[in-house]
Amino acid sequence: MEQLVQQIANYKQEIGAFEATTAEAVEAFRIKYLGTKGLVKQVMGEMKNVPNEQKKAFGQILNEFKEFAENKYTSLKEQTEAAGDTHIQQIDWSLPGDPVAVGTRHPLSIVRNQMIGIFRRLGFAVAEGPEIEDDWHNFGAMNLPEDHPARDMQDTFYIHQNPDWLLRTHTSSVQARIMEQQKPPIRVICPGRVYRNETISARAHCFFHQVEGLYVDENVSFADLKQTLYFFVQEMFGREVKVRFRPSYFPFTEPSAEMDISCQICGGSGCNICKHTGWVEILGSGMVHPKVLENFGIDSNRYTGFAFGMGVERITQLKYQVNDLRLYSQNDVRFLKQFTGAL
Ligand code: DAH
Repeated sequence: MEQLVQQIANYKQEIGAFEATTAEAVEAFRIKYLGTKGLVKQVMGEMKNVPNEQKKAFGQILNEFKEFAENKYTSLKEQTEAAGDTHIQQIDWSLPGDPVAVGTRHPLSIVRNQMIGIFRRLGFAVAEGPEIEDDWHNFGAMNLPEDHPARDMQDTFYIHQNPDWLLRTHTSSVQARIMEQQKPPIRVICPGRVYRNETISARAHCFFHQVEGLYVDENVSFADLKQTLYFFVQEMFGREVKVRFRPSYFPFTEPSAEMDISCQICGGSGCNICKHTGWVEILGSGMVHPKVLENFGIDSNRYTGFAFGMGVERITQLKYQVNDLRLYSQNDVRFLKQFTGAL
């Protein structure tokens, strides 16, 4: 017992003299003295060898020893932390900092936002819909009944679990959802991602983005459609841009037209992008087919409407001269950082 007490006194001396200047040394102290296999635990284990009548006195000595070691640990910790603070105070705050790389908006987001901004100024609201659609909203309601040959215009991803589900092939499905919920007047644009089962190349991808527009009211005419889209391209590309409409076919519009603009890459003189025609197709459009209106209980004798749909990738290509669709989804910083500063 006496021997033990002497040993504890020696340990106390050792602990008292312990010095530490780093967090690592403080941790080493903790492990050596206070850890699960540390000295304090070890000494405590001696209790069982102490005769019963001396247990109380020895217990007191042990507790004191433990407290002593713990207090030392706390003070060592405080000392090193305070030293750390002085280290911080010694930093020269006038030195230039390390630059933080700030991300940029994705070019497709930039252009989509610009598109939304332009149509908003014309009074269009913005609507979104699900990317996993049912057959009715993507095809049926838009006047593409089953077995309609025009379904082949858009190679579709179907979802195994349910033959009625698919990845929407166009944002026209959102038109359907809007007409289902709202009565005319309807003036809405629907930006979103769409999917088609196509082999990926510089000119095609299995997904891309569209902005669709729909305007249904009394007395909406093809002239309104033309003027709206002409305003849009002028805002997007500048006053000099020229447009032309070509008759086309979409099951959900009648009459239908595709709109070309003068090539923004070569200015109309002919290049690879415009296939040397001077014109680039940017959208499909037309007067909403009466059957589509009637699908939603909208009286097609009273109401007419126009609709259009365009690809955000295409508009971005023309605006920023991006020549490969794959660049949009490769996340290559060398490509993306060129758009720093664009809004
Ligand atoms: N949905 C068509 C497509 O994806 C684009 C389109 C054409 C949308 C004419 C329309 C429209 O709303 O009226 O190719």
